[in-house]
Amino acid sequence: MELVEKRIIVTGCASGMGAATVRAYVKAGAQVVGMDIAETAGSQVCADAAGPGTSTFLPVDVANGDQVTEVFAAAVDSLGGLDALAHPAAIHAGNSASDVTSTDWDRLFAVNVRGTMLTNQAAHPYLKEAGGGAIINFGSISGQRPEPGAAAYSATKGAVHAWTRTAAGTWGSDNIRVNAVLPAIRTPMFLAAKEGLSDEELNVKYWRNEQSIALGQEYGDPDTDLGPVMVFLASDASHFITGQLIPVDGGQGNVR
Ligand SMILES: NC(=O)c1ccc[n+]([C@@H]2O[C@H](COP(=O)([O-])OP(=O)(O)OC[C@H]3O[C@@H](n4cnc5c(N)ncnc54)[C@H](O)[C@@H]3O)[C@@H](O)[C@H]2O)c1
Repeated sequence: MELVEKRIIVTGCASGMGAATVRAYVKAGAQVVGMDIAETAGSQVCADAAGPGTSTFLPVDVANGDQVTEVFAAAVDSLGGLDALAHPAAIHAGNSASDVTSTDWDRLFAVNVRGTMLTNQAAHPYLKEAGGGAIINFGSISGQRPEPGAAAYSATKGAVHAWTRTAAGTWGSDNIRVNAVLPAIRTPMFLAAKEGLSDEELNVKYWRNEQSIALGQEYGDPDTDLGPVMVFLASDASHFITGQLIPVDGGQGNVR
């Protein structure tokens, strides 16, 4: 499960699981380009990640097609090719089926769904040229069952699941595997989604998300619980796994 000589792009690297993924990959020996819309925090994460691998930073808005094309080309140029893309970048917002606005709906779909299509599509020719590789998208339990407090977000994650299966089916002949991780991990996004909700509201809006985690009833740690799985999915050890929605959630989805 080492990543020595692997050349990898990680989106959403400024925070949460993207940041933990950069640290895990650099620790496993990979050459990484981290990307995020948040330049200062993203540069810092890439500067701080401890070797034997290396990481540098490039700013990007994953919802902007021209930017994605340009920045992926620059990243691949500096890496000398591409072996994997990890794509955690996304946004979350609270809204319900009754009150979600078109503006919110379009904003979430632009980043979470269009961003997934654009980054995956940008990576595809480079991975093909390398003889194959791995794409790791980020889905959610929110895309598998109702999410009363986050209607648009849950719809975007359902779309990411469908895209992941289709891309896996389309690019398998290029030896490119496409999977999605469905995490339950303590990050700024998770903490912001819970903020200000009473215990009662949490049970309803948040769907007993913590109580249903069989392993400890708590969201996991980005570095110790998620990082090693990200290394596995980018490594050759996972070479026969594609099109899968893989929960890294302490049992939250299937044991509830
Ligand atoms: N935290 C959880 O338990 C949980 C549960 C289910 C799914 N997820 C998914 O996991 C992934 C990572 O989430 P996280 O909790 O680490 O979130 P986070 O908010 O901590 O990090 C997300 C990162 O994406 C970046 N980003 C946002 N919009 C961007 C854009 N347009 N272009 C480039 N970068 C952009 C942000 O700046 C941030 O650094 C997301 O796809 C999220 O939907 C998280």
